[in-house]
Amino acid sequence: MVDVVDLKKNYGNFVALNGVSFHISEGEMYGFVGPNGAGKTTTMKIMAGLLAADGGSVEIDGVDILRHPKKVKQLVGYMPDFFGVYDNLKVSEYMEFFASVYGIYGKEARKRCQEKLDVVHMLEKEDSFVDVLSRGQKQRLCLARCLLYQPKILVMDEPAFGLDPRARYEMKEVLRELMDVGVTMLVSSHILSELSEICTTVGIIEAGKMVVSGTLDEIMTKVNQSNPIVMEVVDGLEKAIAFLKEKEDVETISTNEQKVYVGFRGSQKDEALLLQGLLGQGVLISQYGRAENNLESLFMQITEKEE
Ligand SMILES: Nc1ncnc2c1ncn2[C@@H]1O[C@H](COP(=O)(O)OP(=O)(O)O)[C@@H](O)[C@H]1O
Ligand SMILES: [Mg+2]
Repeated sequence: MVDVVDLKKNYGNFVALNGVSFHISEGEMYGFVGPNGAGKTTTMKIMAGLLAADGGSVEIDGVDILRHPKKVKQLVGYMPDFFGVYDNLKVSEYMEFFASVYGIYGKEARKRCQEKLDVVHMLEKEDSFVDVLSRGQKQRLCLARCLLYQPKILVMDEPAFGLDPRARYEMKEVLRELMDVGVTMLVSSHILSELSEICTTVGIIEAGKMVVSGTLDEIMTKVNQSNPIVMEVVDGLEKAIAFLKEKEDVETISTNEQKVYVGFRGSQKDEALLLQGLLGQGVLISQYGRAENNLESLFMQITEKEE
């Protein structure tokens, strides 16, 4: 459905996207996660046809949208991270205005607008003025507008940002319902926990690069495995290495003087058993534990809860 390959974007000398690639299958809800400044908005704006790329390709439903930007409007429903100001415009008028942008008018427009407002639980607000809506309601209105043209993919930039817990819950409910009816979605957030319950797949971006992509389980496993066990062997280094080489869960062994780094895919319990085994061989160890690495600290950073 969506293939982003080696996407590049510079702002002057600053490299904002340094070869971003990912794939989204039909009906999938893809969580695009990364700290502020990672390049999420830039990627999404390019996908929505609002920003030119400096390299790479974006294919949506078989259309190379960088080459055929005119087709983007029909393929992508883009929900920006910032909602404009709409003085003196009612919810129904706002919707009908956007329907007219897509060439839908009159009775058909009214029907379609009401249908989409219903999808986002906003039908009862039809006669309210847009500017008095809460942030959460504005977000959902914006979503309804994106759905008007039945896009192939919904691209939503931080849809839950700045919402209180109740509004966030409502937004999640709407997204779940859209997923149930098979809408393909790309949703960004700088907080992993916000997306982890509802997304099928997660891609983590940092400094314009995709760091890891997969189901949350796959990512957790990678985070764990990419942290070697580090131990300080005071005596019996050769014995220790011979012992480690025999272990199935040990993937790599490297040494630096007394320090031994072990790529290990076992669980926490396996880690403890490994230590016990080494000590049983008469190896003397003064320090033992998992090293913190970049992937883990990145993961922690975007796992932080919003205050
Ligand atoms: N118009 C711009 N001009 C210069 N730099 C920009 C512009 N837009 C974004 N950037 C920079 O590009 C990087 C990525 O920004 P952005 O895509 O907004 O990240 P995110 O949405 O992940 O927070 C940031 O360092 C940001 O400061
Ligand atoms: Mg952003």
